[in-house]
Amino acid sequence: MLNIAVLVSGSGSNLQAIIDSVEKGEINGKIVTVVSNKPGVYALERAKIHNIPSCVIESKGNLHFTSQLLKHLKENNVDLIVLAGFLCILKEEILNQYKNKIINVHPSLIPSFCGDGFYGLKVHEAALNYGVKVTGATVHFVNEVTDGGKIILQKAVEIKDGDTPQILQKRVMEQAEWIILPKAIKMICDNEIKED
Ligand code: GRF
Repeated sequence: MLNIAVLVSGSGSNLQAIIDSVEKGEINGKIVTVVSNKPGVYALERAKIHNIPSCVIESKGNLHFTSQLLKHLKENNVDLIVLAGFLCILKEEILNQYKNKIINVHPSLIPSFCGDGFYGLKVHEAALNYGVKVTGATVHFVNEVTDGGKIILQKAVEIKDGDTPQILQKRVMEQAEWIILPKAIKMICDNEIKED
C-alpha cells in the first residue's frame, strides 16, 4: 500500500476525484497528507471533510519552502507525490529524491499547450485561439522540464462551437482529468507502470 501526498493550490476537484476513488477501494494506497502552498483554498476543506491530514506550506516569499516540503514528505513516509492543480514548480532537490515518484495532471494533450506559462484557464484559451477541434488531459511523470516527463495516460475531449475557456475547462475536468488521474494512481499503486 503506497503512502500518497496530494499537493494542491486551489479548489481541489482533482483531489476530490482521488479521495472518491480511494474511498471506493479502487486505489491500493492511502492519502497520508494534503499539502497546499496557499492558505485558505477549498482543497483543504475537502481534506478536512474526509479526515485526511493537511497542512499549508506557503511558497510565496518563503526561502525554506523546498526544505520544509521535503521534511514533511519524509516525516509522512510518502511514496508517491500527486500534483493536483499545484501551481508551483518543484525544485531539483525534490525531483532528484522522488525520481519517477511524482505525477501531474495537465489539462491538454501534451505536447500541445503545455510548458511554462500554460496553466489553468490559459491552457484552454490557447486551445480555443488555435482552433483545435480536440483537446484533453494528460497525466505524466514530473521531471525538470515543465510538463516534459514521461506520459502515463491521456484522454481526448471534443471542443464544441461556442465553447468559452470556462466551459471547456469544466468539460476537460469532467470527461478527462477526474478519470485519468485516479486511474494513473491506481496503475502506479498496482505496479503496472514501467518507470524510465
Ligand atoms: C486543473 O485543470 C488541473 O489540470 C490544472 O489546474 C486545475 C486544478 O483544478 N493544473 P482543481 O484544483 O483540481 O479543482
